[in-house]
Amino acid sequence: MSVITCVEDLRLLARKRVPRMFYDYADSGSWTESTYRANEQDFQRILLRQRVAVDIERRSVRSRMLGEEVAMPVALAPTGLTGMQHADGEILAARAAEAFGVPFTLSTMSICSIEDIAAHTRAPFWFQLYVMRDRGFIERLIERAKAARCSALMLTLDLQILGQRHKDLKNGLSAPPKPTVRNLLNLATKPRWVLGMARTPRRSFGNIVGHATGVTDLSSLSSWTSQQFDPSLSWKDVEWIKRQWGGKLIVKGVLDAEDARLAADSGADALIVSNHGGRQLDGAPSSIAALPAIVDAVGPRLEVWLDGGIRSGQDVFKALALGARGTLIGRAFLYGLGAMGEAGVTRCLELIRNELDLTMAFCGLDGVSRIDRRALVGEPGRAPA
Ligand code: GLV
Repeated sequence: MSVITCVEDLRLLARKRVPRMFYDYADSGSWTESTYRANEQDFQRILLRQRVAVDIERRSVRSRMLGEEVAMPVALAPTGLTGMQHADGEILAARAAEAFGVPFTLSTMSICSIEDIAAHTRAPFWFQLYVMRDRGFIERLIERAKAARCSALMLTLDLQILGQRHKDLKNGLSAPPKPTVRNLLNLATKPRWVLGMARTPRRSFGNIVGHATGVTDLSSLSSWTSQQFDPSLSWKDVEWIKRQWGGKLIVKGVLDAEDARLAADSGADALIVSNHGGRQLDGAPSSIAALPAIVDAVGPRLEVWLDGGIRSGQDVFKALALGARGTLIGRAFLYGLGAMGEAGVTRCLELIRNELDLTMAFCGLDGVSRIDRRALVGEPGRAPA
């Protein structure tokens, strides 16, 4: 295998090694995928302001997210079925994040459970929650996250109904995959993945099966969401969750300045500008396009972060320049995980850190807190001062 020099290399390797239905699950958007593509493309339209002859010898990309010190302002986003990209995927990703010094977020719809992550890591992690109809189940999940010493709760607001991703329907997505001829033929070409899965007991939704009343088997994400996720979710529920949790609350999935104000009113400590990786409302703006208005609306009231489309340290830099105080990566680390397990997640983080560090240096800046709109050329960076 040739040298891995960028996240795209990890993606190509993951595509070879991960069974088709799980690779497709991670790497697709809803309907026409226009928002999914715009997330990446809109970053490329933003131009950086090169500076020269500035002393950048001593520089650092270290920062803080919600008061926690981070090796760089990049957290691992909650991604569903991570343990299907690679056996024990959530444990491996959490360990890579811990060793690197960035936050890891466990999804409700993960394969490894909250308790699995707590047992295999020392650093506190974040837990992501969906509002489900069964409030008792939410209370129990929150208690489990507290017992696992999670340091923040991330509430996803943009997935009360599931966006349609054509490939998942065509592939018959389920965890574990059903033993159909098509799946077995595909699995036969992924020996590493199969071996890993054969060795782990973790092959279904670890936070749910055996924990939600009456759920002893659950294979389909789409049937669980349509039955359990609560479409009546309102800001009152966000406040209720904040009270139940009692700790730091991050709300995820805000794309609109008015919603951002409501998020700040609800008592959230951070919000994530996100369109769920282009997996929900196709036709919505890219995250990076939505960011500046949200920063202008609520910037000083709570931390504004961004996810969606980040594939490099330059993208992180651009998000910070447009006012984000932190970023999250989803697919980028999943590609690393699918390609090479824990080492692949570490590689992804190293690549992004290195790109962020060099980009900062080329722009004549020595620390991430100094990155702002003046580091960009023209719109949307606005004319340099
Ligand atoms: C779950 O969060 C998904 O996007 O499938």
